[in-house]
Amino acid sequence: MPVPEPRTPTDHQPDASEPRPADPPSRHIPPEPDYLSEATYAATRRPVDQAATLLPQAYRSPSFYALERQQVFARSWVAVTLAEKVARSGQVVTASVAGMPIIVTRDGDGELRAFHNVCRHRGTQLVTDDCALRRFRCPYHSWTYALDGRLLGSPLFEGSDIPEDQQALFDTSHRRGFDQRDYGLLPVRVAAWGHIVFVNLSEASPALDEWLGDLPDRLAGYRLDESVAVGELSYDVRANWKLIAENFMEYYHLPWVHPELAKVSRVDDHHRFQGPGMYTGTCTTPISQDPSTSGWLSLPSTPGLNDDDAISGRFLWVTPNLAISVLPTHTFTIIVTPDGPDRTREQAVLNVHRDIAADTDASALADLTRFWDHLNREDIEIVERGQLGVSSDAFPGGPMCYRFEEPLHRFQNMVIDRMVGIDRIPEGDPRGDTSIVTGSSPATGSTQTEPDPSVGVRA
Ligand code: FES
Ligand SMILES: [Fe+2]
Repeated sequence: MPVPEPRTPTDHQPDASEPRPADPPSRHIPPEPDYLSEATYAATRRPVDQAATLLPQAYRSPSFYALERQQVFARSWVAVTLAEKVARSGQVVTASVAGMPIIVTRDGDGELRAFHNVCRHRGTQLVTDDCALRRFRCPYHSWTYALDGRLLGSPLFEGSDIPEDQQALFDTSHRRGFDQRDYGLLPVRVAAWGHIVFVNLSEASPALDEWLGDLPDRLAGYRLDESVAVGELSYDVRANWKLIAENFMEYYHLPWVHPELAKVSRVDDHHRFQGPGMYTGTCTTPISQDPSTSGWLSLPSTPGLNDDDAISGRFLWVTPNLAISVLPTHTFTIIVTPDGPDRTREQAVLNVHRDIAADTDASALADLTRFWDHLNREDIEIVERGQLGVSSDAFPGGPMCYRFEEPLHRFQNMVIDRMVGIDRIPEGDPRGDTSIVTGSSPATGSTQTEPDPSVGVRA
C-alpha cells in the first residue's frame, strides 16, 4: 500500500469546522481634521509652557499643503528676490508664490512692478527665467506688454517676420468688445525693504510696513539696502518649509547640530529679539570673537554701527519664508520656497555693505560663503531627519520646550491665524523688557511674561 506523502503547509485545506486564522489588524487611517477650524489647533493655541507643537499633518499632508498655499502664502508678504536683481529698468525675476508663477521687474520709470506670469490671451507663461527685457512678448501669438503691464499689441508685429500686407489678418483690435486697455498684465502687490523684494497676492493684507512691524527700525543701522550680494548658494531640501523655519528660530539645537559653533557661541549669550510684526527674532550678544569658527571677523564691520549692533548677531525669520542673519560684518539671507509638503527650495545669499565689498579680497568672501554653506548643510541634514520622523503616522506631536521654543510657538500661531482666516499681526514684547516669555495669548497675540533676567529679552 503506498504511503501518503506528508502534507506541506500549502496543501492544507482547512475544513469548514476549523477556526480561521484572524486577519491581521487593519491599519486605521484616521480622517484628516478640518484644517480651517480653530478647534484643530487647540493644543498649539495654549500658552507656550503648556502647548504642543503644530499637528504633525501640517508637515506632511498634501491637503494641508494645498490649503496652506491658499491661506498662508497667498495672503502674506512673501520674499521673492534680492532688490539688486531688479535695480534697473527691464531686469526681470521669475518666482513662484502659492504655486503661482510671478514676474518682478522695474519699469521704464524706475517703478518696481510685479505681475502674474500669464499672458492675457490664453494664459501662456510669458517668461521662464530671470532675464533683461524691453517688453514682455508672449511666445505663442506675440501679444506684447510694456514693463508697466500695458498691452501694447495683440499681436505686436514689430520685430516679427509677418509681411506687412498680411498683418491685417492677425490684427485683433477690431474684435467686437475688445479694448486693449482691459488686457494688461494682472498686477500683484510688490514692495521692497532693505535688500529684499516681497510680493503679496492678496489685496486685503496689511501693507508691508505693518507686516514688518518694528523690524526696519531695529535693523536700520545695518543699512541693508546698501549691501550687495557677494556669494550665492541654493539647496533642494527634503523637508517641509516650516521645519526649516522652526530650526532657524531656536538655538536649542546648537550644541548637537553645530558642535564647532557651540564651542565659541555660548547658549547663554542668546536671547529673544522680539517686537511687533510678523517675525520672530533671536539675538546673540556678544557674538563669538573666535576667528577659527566664524571667518566673519576677517571682514571689516559695516560702517556706522552703534555699540550694540557692533557686537551682536541678529537672527530674524519673517513669516512666511525669509531668514536673515545679520552680523556686524555681513548678512546671510535665505528665501525658502515650498515645493510640496516635504520639499523646499532654498536660495541663500551672503551680503556685505557695498563699501566693504569694494575693498575685500574675493578669497575672504569665498571662505565666508563656505562657512555658511557648512552651517546650513548641518541644519538641512537635521531638518531632513525631522521630516522622516514627522512623516510617520505614529508621531502624535510633542511639547514645546518654552525656554528655547517660544519663537516656534509665536511662528506656529501666526501660521494657524492665517489657516483659520485671522489677519492678526502679533504685538511682540514691550521694548526693553527683561523677562522671559512664558505664554502667548492667541486671543490678542500678546505675550505674558514672568521675571527672569537670566534669559532676558533685550531690545
Ligand atoms: S497665449 Fe499669449 S499670445 Fe496667445
Ligand atoms: Fe542651526
